[in-house]
Amino acid sequence: MKKKAIIFGITGQDGSYLSKFLLKKNYIVHGVKRRVSNLNTERIDDIYSEPFSNDKNFILHYGDLTDSLSINHIIKKVKPNEIYNLAAQSHVAVSFEIPSYTTNTDALGTLKILESIKEIDKKIKFYQAGSSEMFGKVVETPQSEKTPFYPRSPYAVAKVYSHWITINYRESYGMFAANGILFNHESPIRGETFVTRKIVKALCKIKNNKQKKLYLGNIDAKRDWGHAEDYVEAMWKILQHHKPDDFVICTGKQYSIKTFVNLTAKTLKMPIKWKGKGINAKAFDRNNNCIIECKKKYFRPAEVDSLIGDYSKAKKILNWKPNKSIHDLIKEMIDYELNRS
Ligand code: NAP
Ligand code: GDD
Repeated sequence: MKKKAIIFGITGQDGSYLSKFLLKKNYIVHGVKRRVSNLNTERIDDIYSEPFSNDKNFILHYGDLTDSLSINHIIKKVKPNEIYNLAAQSHVAVSFEIPSYTTNTDALGTLKILESIKEIDKKIKFYQAGSSEMFGKVVETPQSEKTPFYPRSPYAVAKVYSHWITINYRESYGMFAANGILFNHESPIRGETFVTRKIVKALCKIKNNKQKKLYLGNIDAKRDWGHAEDYVEAMWKILQHHKPDDFVICTGKQYSIKTFVNLTAKTLKMPIKWKGKGINAKAFDRNNNCIIECKKKYFRPAEVDSLIGDYSKAKKILNWKPNKSIHDLIKEMIDYELNRS
């Protein structure tokens, strides 16, 4: 019998990569999408054809993490073996503007799924999409499963709730409920307002004379960036382990936003020169035109300055490691962007 999985957040970056991964593993994939006024299935439209799927192994349902009736209904109807909760208001900066909605979706949404599993069938395995943002103002470097959390945004606080409620249901009711603590992961289909995609997209346009300037926020922040394709494999491995557990997934390498800009410009063969620091930093092209400036509106009320993870537990127990480097990632993102324009 084929395994069945439900993915909440099917229309997002990870939902798309995970769907393709599970379909290749011969799963029947049920995706949950929200009703929106414009089509939002661009990332999964290609799944409706070979080699991925047909009408029988890829099925979409309307649902919303703020609506427990829809969650309960879908889980009862599908009776899945595995549930992946990838749905979230996932933008950290936006979470300062809509904190209540972010909490409702990113914290209470997880609780709603766990309650449904508890009531319907405790044998359903559950994956929760945790985040390195939970480490926030880090108390140790690098960050591992043992590092205490210090969340710095409504988004991160909601994710800490979800992390602990997942552990609580595992310990209280013997459920297979596991957390991934994933560091930033990107791809050509990353949301356009996250910094990597924003940089790649803008520099490609500037190179082709279709845009004059890119405005950024804090370019001194540092992140541990991986590729989404590698990270969805880790999600699946977490649910195939013989016992539910929590795992840090990362690359163990760190770059600043400024370095990400420099690497992208170098790959595009666009020499740039920086002048000034912090909010006054500006980048100039070979003709001395200013092509990058910083704006206060892109700075956050509280910043996460530096994240770098340690994935030795995942390597030892799940035999997982990242395959793609930041250079592979940037090249792939650039190729995709240039082919679109
Ligand atoms: P994403 O591209 O922003 O996708 C989020 C998904 O959640 C979208 O399908 C979105 O639907 C859906 N969603 C939002 N609110 C919802 C609601 N109320 N009910 C149902 N669905 C809702 O995020 P991602 O990068 O794929 O990340 C997947 C998950 O991993 C998220 O939980 C994120 O917080 C977490 N995470 C991501 C990273 C990363 O670096 N990418 C790292 C750590 C953790 P719409 O398309 O309708 O908006
Ligand atoms: N988005 C954005 N836009 N970020 C900028 C900009 C800008 O113009 N300029 C500088 N930054 C800085 C942010 O201040 C932050 O320090 C860093 O770039 C990365 O920002 P994002 O790409 O928005 O990602 P994030 O690290 O805040 O959050 C992402 O990764 C988390 C895992 O650590 C999201 O995917 C979260 O959902 C995820 O949990």
